[in-house]
Amino acid sequence: MIRMAATGDVHFDRKSKDRLSQHFEGLEGKADFFLIAGDLTKSGHPEEMKVLAEDLKKCPIPTIVVFGNHDYHIDQVDILTQILREEKVIVLEESSVILEINNQKVGIAGTKGFGGGFVGACGSDFGEHEMKSFIRHSKNNAKNLERVIKEIEADFKIALLHYSPTSQTLAGEKKEIYPFLGNYFLAEAIDYGGVDICFHGHAHSGVEKGETPGGCPVRNVAQPVIRHAFNIYSLDQTQKRIFDPS
Ligand SMILES: [Fe+2]
Ligand SMILES: [Fe+2]
Repeated sequence: MIRMAATGDVHFDRKSKDRLSQHFEGLEGKADFFLIAGDLTKSGHPEEMKVLAEDLKKCPIPTIVVFGNHDYHIDQVDILTQILREEKVIVLEESSVILEINNQKVGIAGTKGFGGGFVGACGSDFGEHEMKSFIRHSKNNAKNLERVIKEIEADFKIALLHYSPTSQTLAGEKKEIYPFLGNYFLAEAIDYGGVDICFHGHAHSGVEKGETPGGCPVRNVAQPVIRHAFNIYSLDQTQKRIFDPS
């Protein structure tokens, strides 16, 4: 059994000191690692990320994050990455990490992802240069994610995203903005790559539970959705069954 704490869209600003760490007491007895599904900051400012890094320094278990669109807002991603890595936070972008948990290997593949839409209501790489580059960016990103997932050799494979791979977890959001909340290329990457569970954020007004067309459980862990600092999920070793927080 592996146990993971997961959250997203924590949107730290300069005044967010201890907002996560106040919940860390005893966490090492409840979860093996901590996942944050992007939108770590309000506007991507290094000062905001420093507050989060100070908080995550107190986390008793390995912390793995991807960035969200908010973290890209002022183009400081390299500096933000450095701030987190200085505090031993694992930052993924079209990359993976393998953790060793109770003699089992857990591979986590992460990327921010991007928009594009879902089957029957998606953009296509046709027409104007801007439209083609939008959709090609999403497709290439998903292809890279699939490659990263396939390269993982582990007992469990987890995908950590910011954008959603399915419209199921977007229920509650305005349908008009679905193409800006995720894309189905990410679900194809997850299904072809063979993932046991996928976490994402970004859809603050969505719902927690969904799945890909291939049956991979998807959990939208955006804080406004889970209404907790984080949720704890478990995966059973033999059945690869997901246990949601009760
Ligand atoms: Fe967000
Ligand atoms: Fe977002």
